[in-house]
Amino acid sequence: MKTILTGIRPTGNLHVGHFFGAVQNWKSLQGQYEFYLEIADVQALTDHFHDPEMVRKNVYELTIDLLSCGINPSQVTFFIQSKIPEIAELTVFYSNLVTMSRLYRNPTIKTEISQKKAIFGEKGESVTYGFVGYPVSQAADITAFSGELVPVGEDQLPLLEQCREIVRKFNSIYGDTLIEPSHLLTTTPRVKGLDGAEKMGKSLGNAIFLNDSEDVISKKIMGAVTDTKKIKKDDPADPEVCMVYYYHKLMKNENLETVCQECRQGKRGCVACKRELIEKMLAFLKPIQEKQAYFHEHPEEVEKILEEGTNKASLKAKDTMIRVRKSMKIDY
Ligand code: TRP
Ligand code: SF4
Repeated sequence: MKTILTGIRPTGNLHVGHFFGAVQNWKSLQGQYEFYLEIADVQALTDHFHDPEMVRKNVYELTIDLLSCGINPSQVTFFIQSKIPEIAELTVFYSNLVTMSRLYRNPTIKTEISQKKAIFGEKGESVTYGFVGYPVSQAADITAFSGELVPVGEDQLPLLEQCREIVRKFNSIYGDTLIEPSHLLTTTPRVKGLDGAEKMGKSLGNAIFLNDSEDVISKKIMGAVTDTKKIKKDDPADPEVCMVYYYHKLMKNENLETVCQECRQGKRGCVACKRELIEKMLAFLKPIQEKQAYFHEHPEEVEKILEEGTNKASLKAKDTMIRVRKSMKIDY
């Protein structure tokens, strides 16, 4: 079985965009690979070092959300990044193999720095050493577990390329030691926001969270962007420019054809159309929310899953470290 490694930052609850963009893909891979799923708390701290409480709380919240979506802990090894010190150790060794200019040229880092500048202004102090270096730490995440395949979205590809370069450099200097990983590109395209934005995101305020209440979901969907040219209930409209229709499609509404035709013919009011979507969304979220409630009532089960997974991951990372130390002639 090939080894898969992926990670996710514990900075908030999962939303519908995460489900259709990433989690669904992970579900289709589980059972076919040796699958490591990292709860990347150290990486979350590169951005949120001032808010440790938030990160800690979300390690558990995120694990509960992933379990509730159907990620199966008997097929997927959940582990907490900070509990594997070998990752930090590898990060230090890899730091010598990457130049500062290469890090600044990394497109993911470049985009994230310009986003930070947009928030904090031009002040250089908002960009820390840890932040610019997180691709190095992510290369350590992957290689510590000899990850061969990394399922990621397109925005993460430059990080994987950086990892490959580090592996090649390491192997050329110290001898063949590390496995060069390949990406497994997520097939689902990015999920759009309720406001029509290209991406559903927590900070964008356009997301439906998996743990939103019925009331909140209703309000959010009622506020979704529809065809702006439709004023009256029986005006014909174009479903292709309407976010409500987009979500009917995403939720695989079995009456999609009818929704589309009725909308085009002016036989469907937006309020009724939104109500129908609310019903579908609630039905989709119900089993997930029941599991979330179950795990909140049984925190010991969540802790056990994290502990057992972390123990298993730790053995694998220790094994890698023995080989790395030997190659680097620091196996005292
Ligand atoms: N950077 C990834 C994100 O923000 C999370 C992550 C951490 C990751 N470690 C990883 C992804 C290793 C793939 C492999 O979504
Ligand atoms: Fe969108 Fe439905 Fe209104 Fe058509 S009827 S514009 S699909 S909400």
